[in-house]
Amino acid sequence: MIVASRWVLAAAVLLLAMGASVVDGAKRRGTRTRREIDVQTGPSEEQVWDSGLMEKEVSYATLIEHGREYHSESRNVKRVRGFVLGYVTPWNRLGYEMAVRFRKKLDAVSPVWFQVKQEQGATEPSITGGHEVNQTWIKALRKGGKGPLVVPRFILEGAPGSHVAMLSDQRPLVEGIVKVLEDNHLDGLVLEAWSAWHSFNGLQNDHFRQAAFALIQSLHQVLDASGGKKLFLAVPPLYPSHEKAPWLARDDMIELSKWVDGFSVMTYDYSSTQGRPGPNSPAHWVSANLEVLKRGGEKDPVPPPPDLEPKFLLGVNFYGWDSCPSRASRGNGAGALEALTAPSFLKLLQQHQPALEWQEEAEEHMFEYVDKDGFSHTVFYPTPRSLEARLQAAQTANVGLSIWELGQGMERFFDLL
Ligand SMILES: *[C@@H]1O[C@H](CO)[C@@H](O)[C@H](O)[C@H]1NC(C)=O
Repeated sequence: MIVASRWVLAAAVLLLAMGASVVDGAKRRGTRTRREIDVQTGPSEEQVWDSGLMEKEVSYATLIEHGREYHSESRNVKRVRGFVLGYVTPWNRLGYEMAVRFRKKLDAVSPVWFQVKQEQGATEPSITGGHEVNQTWIKALRKGGKGPLVVPRFILEGAPGSHVAMLSDQRPLVEGIVKVLEDNHLDGLVLEAWSAWHSFNGLQNDHFRQAAFALIQSLHQVLDASGGKKLFLAVPPLYPSHEKAPWLARDDMIELSKWVDGFSVMTYDYSSTQGRPGPNSPAHWVSANLEVLKRGGEKDPVPPPPDLEPKFLLGVNFYGWDSCPSRASRGNGAGALEALTAPSFLKLLQQHQPALEWQEEAEEHMFEYVDKDGFSHTVFYPTPRSLEARLQAAQTANVGLSIWELGQGMERFFDLL
C-alpha cells in the first residue's frame, strides 16, 4: 500500500515536472516549488573530501544531504596534530553525545558547569552547578582507558565587588574549586575570568592585577599538588576584533604560561561584537592573532618561549549567526542576531535554497535571504571548507584548538579533527 502510494506520488511529481519544464527557469524558481531534501545522518563510507562539502561552490543540497553524516572509518582517528579542547553546554545535550562519539579526536572536553561568585559580606565564594555533573557521561568519555581530560569550565561572576572579594582572600576560592574537582574525579578546569576582569578595568589596577596573577599561580600550584590537575584559561584574543573589545597582552600570556596548561583564545564573534553582519572568525583576523603570538610587536619581534605555541588553543566556532539589522532598527521585537546551530542552519537552507558564496578574504561561506516580512538576513555558518582553512592555519602555527561548542556543529566537522 505504502509502496503503491509512493509510486503514484512519484508519477504525479514527474508529470508536474514535465509540465513545469515549459515554464522558463527564472519563473519556476520564483514560484518556489520546493524540493525537500532528506538529511542523512550517521556513519558513512564516504570521506568528507569526496562528499562535495569541501568545495567553494558547495550547494545547499549537499550540505543538507551530507553535512550531518560522518566518515565511519576515521571516527576513532585524530587527524589534527595540536591539542584539541571542546566545550559542551547543559543547554545543548547534543554536545554530550558528540563528545562521546568523537572522543578519540579530543584531548580535553570542557562541560560548562560551574559558576562562582562571592555575595557581599560572605567570607567565601559560592560555587553552583554541581547538579550538572553526570558521572555516567564521564565514564562513557573515559571508556577503555585513555579518553579526553574532563576539565569543566568555572566562570567567575558577579559585580566587581565579588571579584575583588575573591581575589583579596584567595584561599577559599582555590580550595573550593579544587575540592569540587577532587570530589567529582575531574582532571582540571577551564577558568573564565579574564574578560570580566577586563570589563570593569580591574586589570588596569596594579593591586588587582597582581592579585589576579597570584590567583592563577596558586591555583596552578594546588592543582599540580592534587595529582597534576590541569589549568586552562579562557582569554580574549591577542589582537582584538575592534578598539573596545577585550584583549590579552602577549606579555601577559607569556607570563601566565608558566602556570597555565592552555589558553582557550576566543577568536570568534568578530562581526557580531561590532554589531554588523559579517564573518564570525575571518581568516585575516585569525592570522593577525597568530602573527602577534609568533612575533609580538612589529618593531621589536621577540620569539615566544618554546612551549607557548602548543598552549595557544585557537578558538573555533561550530555555530553561526543570522543577522538582520533592519529588523532591530525598526524595533519590532525580534532581535537582530540569532545564533545558528546545525539544525537551524539546515532548516534555513531547506527553506530558502540559497546559493552559498565563498568569501575569499574571510574564508567563510555566507548567504542572504529575505524573510516572510520582507527583511533581509545575512547568514554566516561554518562549513567543512572554512573549518579546514582554520585547522591548516593552526597546524602551520603549531597551535591547538578550542571549539565552542561541540553540539552546535555538523558531524562532518569532526571528520576533519
Ligand atoms: C547522563 O549521561 C548519560 C550518558 O551520556 C545520559 O544517557 C543521561 O541521560 C545523562 N543523565 C542526565 C540526568 O542528564
